[in-house]
Amino acid sequence: MGDAKKLFIKTYGCQMNVYDSERMAESLISQGYVTTDRADDADMILLNTCHIREKAAEKVYHELGRLRPLKTAKPDLKIGVTGCVAQAEGAEIMTRAPMVDLVVGPQSYHRLPGMTDALARGERVLDTDFPEEDKFNHLGARPKAARAPTAFLTVQEGCDKFCAFCVVPYTRGSEVSRPADRVLDEARDLVERGVREIALLGQNVNAYHGHYGGLAGLIGDLAKIDGLLRIRYTTSHPNDMDDALIAAHGECDKLMPYLHLPVQSGSDRVLKAMNRKHTADHYLRLIERIRAARPDILISGDFITGFPGEEEQDFEDTLALVRAVEYGQCYSFRYSPRPGTPAAERGQVDEAVSMDRLHRLQSLLTEQQRRAQDAMVGQTVGVLFEKPGREPGQMGGKSDHLHAVHVMGEVPVGEMRPVRITESLTNSLGGVLV
Ligand code: SAH
Ligand code: SF4
Ligand code: F3S
Repeated sequence: MGDAKKLFIKTYGCQMNVYDSERMAESLISQGYVTTDRADDADMILLNTCHIREKAAEKVYHELGRLRPLKTAKPDLKIGVTGCVAQAEGAEIMTRAPMVDLVVGPQSYHRLPGMTDALARGERVLDTDFPEEDKFNHLGARPKAARAPTAFLTVQEGCDKFCAFCVVPYTRGSEVSRPADRVLDEARDLVERGVREIALLGQNVNAYHGHYGGLAGLIGDLAKIDGLLRIRYTTSHPNDMDDALIAAHGECDKLMPYLHLPVQSGSDRVLKAMNRKHTADHYLRLIERIRAARPDILISGDFITGFPGEEEQDFEDTLALVRAVEYGQCYSFRYSPRPGTPAAERGQVDEAVSMDRLHRLQSLLTEQQRRAQDAMVGQTVGVLFEKPGREPGQMGGKSDHLHAVHVMGEVPVGEMRPVRITESLTNSLGGVLV
C-alpha cells in the first residue's frame, strides 16, 4: 500500500465535457488520486459520455465490455459513467451493467469526493440529481500546476431553448450562469499558471447573465487581465447575439475574430419545426452586422440534414444560406432521433436521402473552408505558439482565426508572434516569423 490510487478518464463529446473532466480529475486528485493515461493501470476509470447523436449509449456499453477483463483481473477497480449518457440513462446503466460502480450526472460532480467513501465501502452509487447548489462553487480551488497556453473555462451551463432535435436541455438542465467574480478569479489563476488564451464555454454562452453587462461585460473585464492575450466563446445561439456583444467584436482587441454561430438549416419551414425561433433572413442580417463590426471575422456553424419534414426545396434553401454566408469552418450532421425529444416522434426522412444531402452540403462547406484558409496566404496574423511542429526546428500554434500554423524557428511555448502566411497546406498554414 502507500501508492497513490490512479485515475483514468476517457472524455467524449463537447468541450464542456473536456472542462468537466479536468475539474473531476482535480477534485479526485485532492482526494489522493493521481492521473494516468493508461486504463490498464488505473484504480478508477471514468467514462465521461456524450448523448448528442446516435449510438451514444451503445458506445458506452461497448466500451464497458472492453473494460470487463480489467475489472475481472482487478476486482477493486472502480468503474464510473459520467456525463450526458449517465444523466439520460443512469438507472438503466446500473441495471444493465453490474460492473459499473458509479453513475454521476453532469450537475453532481462536486459530490464525487463523498461518493468515493461509499465506493470504498463496496457500495454502488447513482446520482443524477439537479442539485440547487452550483457545482463549480463546491468543486474547491483549482491546483497550481503549470498549464498549456490555451484553456477552456465554463461560464454557463444548461439550455432553456428546447430545439426539437436536442437532448441537451434534458441532460444538462436549465440555464445557469456562474457569477462574474468567480469566473474572473478563475481566469486570473489560469493566467498565472501560463494560460494565454481562454475559450469561454456554455451550451448557450451568449445568454450568459452572471455579469450586469452580459457576456460582453464579462469579456470586457477579462480583457483587462494582463497576460491574457486572447479570448473566444462558444457556443452561441443567434437569438442571444445582443448589440453589446456584436460591438465587442469591433472594440475588444483581445476578442478573437472567430465566431461559432450555428443555424442548423436555411429553410424557414424547417427552422420553425426545429423550434429555433428565428428565420434564415434574421440569421443572415445578424451575420452582416457582425461582419460590419469586425470585417475579417471567420464564421463557423453547425448544420443538420434530414430533419423530419425536410424536403428537397428546404435543403436547397440551406445550400443557398451557406453560399450567402461563406463559412470559414463548419460542422454538419445527419439528423439522429434522440429518445425523449419531440422530433423523434415525427415521420423520419429516408436515411439514404439525408445521407446524400449531408454529402452535398459537406462538399460545399469543404470548398468554403479551403477558400478561407487559402485567403490567409500573404496576410500577417497573430499566432499563439503551443508546441513544436512535426518537422525538426518547427514551432506550431493557432492563428487568431484558429487556423493551425507552423513556422521554422524557435519560439517559446505561450508566446504570441506575428507571422506572415506563405502557404496553405491540407490542414494547416505555413508561415515565417516577422
Ligand atoms: N448549444 C449549441 C450546440 C449543441 S449540440 C447550439 O445551440 O448550437 C452541437 C450540435 O450538434 C448542434 O449544433 C447540432 O448541429 C448537432 N445536433 C444536436 N442534436 C442533434 C441531433 N439529434 N441529430 C443531429 N445533430 C444534432
Ligand atoms: Fe440544443 Fe438548441 Fe439548446 Fe443548442 S440551443 S443546446 S441545439 S436545445
Ligand atoms: Fe454531448 Fe452533453 Fe456536450 S450530450 S455535446 S457532452 S452537453
